[in-house]
Amino acid sequence: MSNVAPRDCVSRVLFSQDAIHARVEELGRTIAKDYGSGNVGRDEHKRPIILICVLRGAFMLLADLARQIPIQIQYDFICVSSYGNGTSPGAVRFVKDLDLPIRGRDVIIVEDIVDTGHTLDYLLRVFSARQPASIRVCALIDKPARRAVSVNVDYAGFTLESDEFVIGYGMDYAELYRNLPYIGVLDPTAVQ
Ligand code: PRP
Repeated sequence: MSNVAPRDCVSRVLFSQDAIHARVEELGRTIAKDYGSGNVGRDEHKRPIILICVLRGAFMLLADLARQIPIQIQYDFICVSSYGNGTSPGAVRFVKDLDLPIRGRDVIIVEDIVDTGHTLDYLLRVFSARQPASIRVCALIDKPARRAVSVNVDYAGFTLESDEFVIGYGMDYAELYRNLPYIGVLDPTAVQ
């Protein structure tokens, strides 16, 4: 499997490099407009918003999105791991927590994909307890039909109604294919 060239693992390109770039640009503009206008942010000291990148999948989105937000921002990284099983599906734990304090700050969680919603639900509960001024979510791919818990994506790049396994632009299969510049559907026959 590891000898299969990345492109052989993609049965269909869903979102091209250009389409992703254009959409990320739009997301950046929307976020800047929302927070720059003061309609969304609640930080009484008007400090920069903090983007929280959920490693590892969201690193590419964070890198591109950050450069498309023409207002002051800060960013930080977290890493979580799922260890859900039959008795506790969707259980999540921190591998790396935030370095920045978020109390009183406007924060945006940046995800590559929201699927069952378990990861995001956990993060929203943990971060809300730290009393940020506001908390929103940006995800490049939203799969609402797959939700097991109810969570909302405020800034969604693309909504996927199908249940196809997607790779590329940060998203992996067995830690591979994150470096594809586009998002494609994994060809299941190529990884057997
Ligand atoms: C992916 C993605 C989200 C999570 C979404 O992470 O980055 O964090 O799954 O799934 P959920 O909505 O069902 O909880 P993954 O565990 O694959 O790790 P990665 O970011 O390192 O690829």
